[in-house]
Amino acid sequence: MLTHASTPIPPFDRLIAAIAAVLPDHVRIGDAALFLGDSSLVLEILRTQIDALISDPPYGIAYVPGAGAQHKFAGVAIAGDDRPFDPRPLLGLAPITCLWGANHYASRLPDSPGWLVWDKRIGKLRTHQADGELAWTNSRRPARVKNLLWSGAARTGERGEHWHPTQKSTAIMAWCMKELGVPRGAVVADPYMGSGTTGLACLKTGRRFIGIELERRWFDAACERLALWQDQGDLFLS
Ligand SMILES: C[S@@+](CC[C@H](N)C(=O)[O-])C[C@H]1O[C@@H](n2cnc3c(N)ncnc32)[C@H](O)[C@@H]1O
Repeated sequence: MLTHASTPIPPFDRLIAAIAAVLPDHVRIGDAALFLGDSSLVLEILRTQIDALISDPPYGIAYVPGAGAQHKFAGVAIAGDDRPFDPRPLLGLAPITCLWGANHYASRLPDSPGWLVWDKRIGKLRTHQADGELAWTNSRRPARVKNLLWSGAARTGERGEHWHPTQKSTAIMAWCMKELGVPRGAVVADPYMGSGTTGLACLKTGRRFIGIELERRWFDAACERLALWQDQGDLFLS
């Protein structure tokens, strides 16, 4: 009698299936899988199954963007930002971890030499908000600084692309993965995905991505953004 050996399921697909068993609302776009729901429900599924956790969580600062009527996201609050953020459940899930905005919750993180600094200024001019952003990492490498203008509408790259009130620069997310030695083909998770900037940086640089977002509005934005990239490629490299 002939027997058919079953085709083994690749580990990335197995991981996606395991997350989907808890958060069924999800979309697959190329090498990315985007999930709608509360990431705290699936963190333990990620443990040891991902190569890097690169995220920009709510900072716990109750930030509400500009009161100006012309501001696209005026008055839109960030889910979870109204209470102190506790990063501890994210630690140790992956060999490489990078958490943006960590100056706001540094007291709940271990000491690290490997902070990353995003200097958002033009030259030495002060910006109208913070001059920069800090990321805690578990790297033992020395601290590094990258200068890339990002202040309101004044941006290096991605001008006019406003997908989320606290949107990061895709180039900065790619930079931090490079600095931390996240290899091509690695599986990167962002459990606070927002509009999918980490995911876009992964697709652009040949890494695989798992993103999780609580709010339908930002989940839909991430799906649209990554699908646009997947369909068209980056015609305007910045
Ligand atoms: C600082 S924003 C991330 C913005 C993102 N870096 C971007 O460029 O678009 C944090 C995101 O985490 C989401 N969030 C908050 N609590 C969450 C949770 N428990 N599970 C998944 N997402 C959550 C918020 O809705 C928000 O979109």
